[in-house]
Amino acid sequence: MTKALSNPQLIVALDVPHKTEALALARTLAGTAPWCKVGMEMFTHAGPALLEELVALGYKVFLDLKFYDIPHTVAQAVKAASGIGVDMITLHCQGGERMCHAAREAVAGLPGKKPLLFGVTVLTSFAQGEMPGIQESTADFALTLAKGAQMWGLDGVVCSGHEASGIKASCPALMCLCPGIRPSGSAADDQRRTMTPAMAVAAGADYLVVGRPIIAAHDPRVAAEQILADMTSAA
Ligand code: C5P
Repeated sequence: MTKALSNPQLIVALDVPHKTEALALARTLAGTAPWCKVGMEMFTHAGPALLEELVALGYKVFLDLKFYDIPHTVAQAVKAASGIGVDMITLHCQGGERMCHAAREAVAGLPGKKPLLFGVTVLTSFAQGEMPGIQESTADFALTLAKGAQMWGLDGVVCSGHEASGIKASCPALMCLCPGIRPSGSAADDQRRTMTPAMAVAAGADYLVVGRPIIAAHDPRVAAEQILADMTSAA
């Protein structure tokens, strides 16, 4: 069963230091990207209250805490996150079969809305040879982890746009969520395996996560609209 989205969606990463800044950015961008992402920096500052405010602003919320722990702890964390009303949660595929199953079971047992579970394959900040103890290429290792994610019942994987087409070909039941997106001409920052929005959509990305190219733009709303236009041009 193929799970591709017919219209790839933009997720804005609210990677700013304070809750007031995050909410101001969310209000500025309302009506552009349907999703926003709260990662470990912002969640550590602001906690669940921010997530509830984002839901109230009409956003779908992606809680990107990249869970990686023993199966019981991850299952409990997934239940807690679901209780806040988030729509998507990440965990590391490297947590393996039992951890991913425990997360899946936790979601399956929830009443009402069930968040999507996405497995992180290889962080887009890793260049070839930088992953401790891993000899495989980043693309091969990401594919190995994605095959696990498909078997373990996750909804999708987080991967570089460079890996999306190979993962889609081998794992049709998975959606691909791609960070490391850089409009042409913008700075790569610490990302190593980047792609433009149009390239990522053409490669099969279902969700694009974009932070600094929007947050650091002179006009974040215009930057988000340009990224959406670039995505549409490739869809
Ligand atoms: O600013 P930038 O567009 O690089 O932000 C990318 C966002 O996606 C950050 O919040 C980062 O934590 C997240 N992310 C990533 N690579 C992954 C998973 C998540 O860059 N593999």
